[in-house]
Amino acid sequence: MKEADINWSALGFGYVPTDYNVRCYYRNGQWGEIEVSSSETIEMHIAATALHYGQECFEGLKAFRGKDGKVRVFRPIENAKRIQDSARGVKMAEITTEKFMEMMETVIRLNERFIPPYGSGASLYIRPLEIGMTARVGVKPADEYCFLMLVTPVGPYFKEGFKPTNICLTREYDRVAPKGTGRFKVGGNYAASLVAGEKAHELGYSAVLYLDPKEKKYLDECGPANFYAIKGNSYITPASESILPSITNDSLMQLARDFGMEVERRHVPVEEIPTFDEAAACGTAAVCSPVGEIHDLDTGDKWVIAKDGKPGPVTNRLYDTLNGIRLGEIEDTHNWNVVLDF
Ligand code: PLP
Ligand code: COI
Repeated sequence: MKEADINWSALGFGYVPTDYNVRCYYRNGQWGEIEVSSSETIEMHIAATALHYGQECFEGLKAFRGKDGKVRVFRPIENAKRIQDSARGVKMAEITTEKFMEMMETVIRLNERFIPPYGSGASLYIRPLEIGMTARVGVKPADEYCFLMLVTPVGPYFKEGFKPTNICLTREYDRVAPKGTGRFKVGGNYAASLVAGEKAHELGYSAVLYLDPKEKKYLDECGPANFYAIKGNSYITPASESILPSITNDSLMQLARDFGMEVERRHVPVEEIPTFDEAAACGTAAVCSPVGEIHDLDTGDKWVIAKDGKPGPVTNRLYDTLNGIRLGEIEDTHNWNVVLDF
């Protein structure tokens, strides 16, 4: 196996070509065999439902090369369940958990040389994707689907890495509707976030902190990540129907409980922001990205969260513990890792 010629520690969160991807087609009411491909393109009908009516959903998860040389994938069964939910949310056929896991293991093994080495700070990002393939002009679900998985080695999502960045909130944009598709991982949600996201970037913010789309009173989530705050001994995170149920956030809540903290999953009003000791965006790509300041673009309010410009002690501990578990340095007491032995 030829080592991939990559400067692992300089990787950002971008697309690096790898050797193979895997695909599986749903036809005549059933999923077929897993196909291995070395092509980076797909052939699809010009009238496919994915292209016209956004019938697609995706996932994101990571594999890590551990201290002991083993490869660990973090909580993949949760991603399988979530993509099944997302598929139901936009009327697509659901992949089975067994097929998802088999595809995942196959695509990782085939691209072993792209798994970043232990100590590089990088990981192998796995991107499962499902798309509606049937040609339709009327708005109707497809009969045929393509489920594929690609992998690409990644570094930190925010170029600053594990350093506080500033985020902004605004009532001018929503990424999802109150009873819409926010709890599913479907492409349309991300298309709907691009205008606000680019505006935030132009103004120097790393992400938009969205408010609940119904009342615009409560914090929802932070760009492509969930949001949490630390106040005293409490880990506080929004309860909302319009956010993605983050697997990272779920894991951090468990770690906070393990640390003896209170976990409060509830509505978090904007007025509570000045009381936060720490805040962060959390997700597979973001891990825990500490928040420096939160600026309200409508009122002009500016709240400094990371007062000394550094990640707070709880976020530091959560980040180190989560990473330690994924790298096999800290005991995985919750059985989160799926260990691949090769
Ligand atoms: N919220 C959104 C909108 C996301 O895109 C993601 C990323 O997957 C998350 C939250 C975090 O979810 P997870 O921790 O499962 O990656
Ligand atoms: C992830 O955290 O895996 C995501 O999917 C977020 C983003 C890159 C879309």
